[in-house]
Amino acid sequence: MRPTPRPQTYRVKSFGCQMNVYDGERMAELLGEQGIRPAGDDEDADLVVLNTCHIREKAAEKVYSDIGRLRREDGTSPLIAVAGCVAQAEGEEIMARAPAVRMVVGPQSYHRLPELIAEATEGRRAIDTEMPAETKFGHLPARRRAGPTAFLTVQEGCDKFCTYCVVPYTRGAEVSRPHADLIAEAERLVGAGAKEITLLGQNVNAWSGEDAAGHQVGLDGLIRDLAKLPDLARIRYTTSHPNDMSAGLIAAHGEVEKLMPFLHLPVQSGSNRVLKAMNRSHSAESYLRLLEQVRAARPDIALSGDFIVGFPGESEAEFAETLGIADTVGYAQCFSFKYSPRPGTPAADMAGQIAPEVMDERLQRLQAAISRHALAFNQASLGRETTVLVERKGRHAGQWLGKSPWLQSVHFEGAAAVGDMVRVRLVQAGPNSLHGEVLG
Ligand code: SAH
Ligand code: SF4
Ligand code: F3S
Repeated sequence: MRPTPRPQTYRVKSFGCQMNVYDGERMAELLGEQGIRPAGDDEDADLVVLNTCHIREKAAEKVYSDIGRLRREDGTSPLIAVAGCVAQAEGEEIMARAPAVRMVVGPQSYHRLPELIAEATEGRRAIDTEMPAETKFGHLPARRRAGPTAFLTVQEGCDKFCTYCVVPYTRGAEVSRPHADLIAEAERLVGAGAKEITLLGQNVNAWSGEDAAGHQVGLDGLIRDLAKLPDLARIRYTTSHPNDMSAGLIAAHGEVEKLMPFLHLPVQSGSNRVLKAMNRSHSAESYLRLLEQVRAARPDIALSGDFIVGFPGESEAEFAETLGIADTVGYAQCFSFKYSPRPGTPAADMAGQIAPEVMDERLQRLQAAISRHALAFNQASLGRETTVLVERKGRHAGQWLGKSPWLQSVHFEGAAAVGDMVRVRLVQAGPNSLHGEVLG
């Protein structure tokens, strides 16, 4: 391959979870530090980073079509780097299948992007999917910019090995970032304008570390310390695993005012047989008991979850148990997915794979139930006076969009700016958003 001029402009496209979005932001900051600037909206970037997700099949297929779409009319392509979880899982295959890709870099090694770019500009193809013992975080530039809401990865990786899931393979073992580093990064984000920080981890509530006084603390300890930052108004965290939901963390929901009344706690299925086959190591009943404790600590909490329909062997009666748990909980919002067999995971080889049309039909029924509960939750908040953190302009002139403490999208009309905390009364509700009237 011929040498290429050093890129002047970049574009980072992130396709995955919030942690993947966070990684995309950190890569952008790293490229900025290298003197490469973000390409404008209509500008052809010299360097494109496809920050991929491997969680379901279509996500991976999308990468290849995106690579094809980057091809210019004259047959050339920008410098393409494939990053993220598909890079980790299928790096060699991508290199073989997509000659236009010049760099492959995994989620634990993207701090090496500058070196990879140097190799690529010299005409070599570069791949780095190592999971080095020392973390990337020490090699990334300090955070300088933040919107009103910011992500902060506190924990990475997963040791749970649910039988359907690729994350333990693409992200590696559970690792917690040190307490002091997280407080420092949070201070930078708040200094740069963040009012709300969402703590991220594949199992964020498995976070543990040593606080400034040398005490071993869990996520609740970290949250309590972050709550002391005067200009930080809101703290959220995601995604939690039921087995790591400690008594301390539950108590924090009732005690830490800045911790928002929202909990994303995936259950995946309402059937104990399916949960066992998924290796979830919790039952439907133990999950419901947990939620009762959370609700006792914080009665107005908005609950959210993830579901998989059509796991191998799932019978109609077992699916009905999933509908049942969704009805029992009455989630404020939920994500639901059709089971997607992932290469290398135990469930992909299980007997009883479910036909696509059966999955489609079950997903539709589950989503109808979820949507009904979301609407009921939003309707129950009508009349409430609350605070909206403004994230952006709405579609109409004079309209603004932000989030309530319960993570509801709220639009309102009035004088405001991004980052404002605006007092509103909730006056209209749909399943996905609410309308607010500004209080005088
Ligand atoms: N660590 C988090 C979730 C990470 S993946 C947790 O355990 O809760 C996000 C969601 O994607 C999962 O909760 C699950 O609902 C879904 N998911 C993961 N693997 C999947 C697969 N093979 N097919 C369909 N959905 C999947
Ligand atoms: Fe995947 Fe299960 Fe780990 Fe969540 S807990 S990341 S679903 S293996
Ligand atoms: Fe996707 Fe990797 Fe996140 S597989 S969901 S980007 S951890």
